[in-house]
Amino acid sequence: MNDRVLIRDLHQHVGKTVTLAGWLYNSRVSSKVAFLIVRDGTGLCQCVVGKADVPAEVFETASRLGQESSLEVTGTVHADERALGGHELHVTGLVVVHATHDYPITPKEHGIEFLFSHRHLWLRSRRPTAIMKVRHTVIDAVRRFFNDNGFILFDTPIFAPSAGEGAQTLFNVDYFGEPMYLAQTGQLYLESAALAYGKVYCFGPTFRAEKSKTRRHLTEFWMVEPEIAYAELEDVMAVAEDFVQSIVQRVLKDHRADLEFLGQDVSRLERIVKPFYRLTYSEAAEILRGPRAKELLEKDLEVKNARIAELRSGIAEKEKQRDAQGVKKHVQEKLAAEIIADREELAELEEQVRNIPTHMQLAANFEWGKDLGGSDETIISRLHDRPVFVTHYPRGCKAFYMKRDPKDPRVVRNFDLLAPDGYGEIIGGSQREDDLDALLERMAEENLPTEPYEWYLDLRRYGSVPHGGFGLGIERTVAWLCGLKHIRETIGFPRMMGKVYP
Ligand code: 4AD
Ligand code: MG
Repeated sequence: MNDRVLIRDLHQHVGKTVTLAGWLYNSRVSSKVAFLIVRDGTGLCQCVVGKADVPAEVFETASRLGQESSLEVTGTVHADERALGGHELHVTGLVVVHATHDYPITPKEHGIEFLFSHRHLWLRSRRPTAIMKVRHTVIDAVRRFFNDNGFILFDTPIFAPSAGEGAQTLFNVDYFGEPMYLAQTGQLYLESAALAYGKVYCFGPTFRAEKSKTRRHLTEFWMVEPEIAYAELEDVMAVAEDFVQSIVQRVLKDHRADLEFLGQDVSRLERIVKPFYRLTYSEAAEILRGPRAKELLEKDLEVKNARIAELRSGIAEKEKQRDAQGVKKHVQEKLAAEIIADREELAELEEQVRNIPTHMQLAANFEWGKDLGGSDETIISRLHDRPVFVTHYPRGCKAFYMKRDPKDPRVVRNFDLLAPDGYGEIIGGSQREDDLDALLERMAEENLPTEPYEWYLDLRRYGSVPHGGFGLGIERTVAWLCGLKHIRETIGFPRMMGKVYP
């Protein structure tokens, strides 16, 4: 009996004849045998087609099949520890579903721009596959955490008539001639749900007109936001700590191989256990101005300059080898691919080195009252091996809804959670201002009109209680867990300024 099975399940079928339905990932052909690497979305499997074992036309077809042809391949399953995925298929039959020629993405190296302009096809490759699967698990872990801990899922609107975060990053929509925005957060609506149901969360796409092209910003990203009634800052932070720890543990449990394939040092993630570090904003400011930040950046400059020199001479050497007489074509191609990768690394390092003096200046002259910038967060987060809570920011640099600290009215009862290893902020959260007069005062300070927020102010008029919550960005979390340099790889089709195709 031929049953169609998934590559993931091959271990249950050793010795049996099965059919795989998939696509040709790669192949290697000699006069007597064709090795077809087949992928089916659940894994890769080497399918061995021996010339002596199949009809002549099957061997002929197998030998000529183009990369990403879709196919059904039948054969017996052999366990082999050395094989990709631990199993091999010894082929007896082959049906081509769609023969493909000239697939644009080869197993060789391509430049990142080229790959993103072919994102719809690139998704099939191993690296995006590993990242998308980690993303899937992160989202599952997020939902499980809240569902298992008594939170009610509450969907908040995407059409929003007023700003939830800063007005500078609003996207305008024409809503039957009325001005309207795309939601930057579900939080304000979620607060009303928390006062109705106690513990709630929303999870959806959020939109911010981020004009800066950084490795941490998208214009469309997914955020999960819990909101809790009868909770103060410390209670909310404790939830954030358990939450992040649970996501990390789940990803470690299910994706060790994917993380290793991506080059992530898994031991870094194994260190992510409670308690996380806790710093006040004022303490963070001291660190930025102090000797540890300076030493870190000086050391960076040294290490990066050394690597730049190494890459430059390496590229020159590889170019010489590539252009030498009598070099075999496959060697030439391999060198060309390495040169592309080296050039990309070089360009990135050169830019980083150009920026280091600015980052040093910014840190050394950091003034109390300013928000932490991206480079400041990077410094703080690189000086720690576990996530860091930075709390009690000056109220002027944070959102209007955050609760003023009764012990020091210059600051609010908020926190950002910075991931380690330079990944920076993955969570922003706070206790909310629950006093009507204090909130009105704060809105006036920000020149916010009260009219569009009357419903929000009602929450302080009728049964107001201490409450708070936070928002975690899925893409930044996945980038951190996978050890990626840029957030754009963590979502199927990233949206950034000037980048919407495909
Ligand atoms: O710190 P933020 O702006 O907080 C809020 O929106 C609050 N309303 C959340 C709350 O208290 N309910 O954003 C929260 C998180 C950030 O820490 C970051 O992970 C992510 O959302 N984020 C972005 N991710 C990708 N691209 C962007 N442009 C992002 N802006 C924020
Ligand atoms: Mg924030």
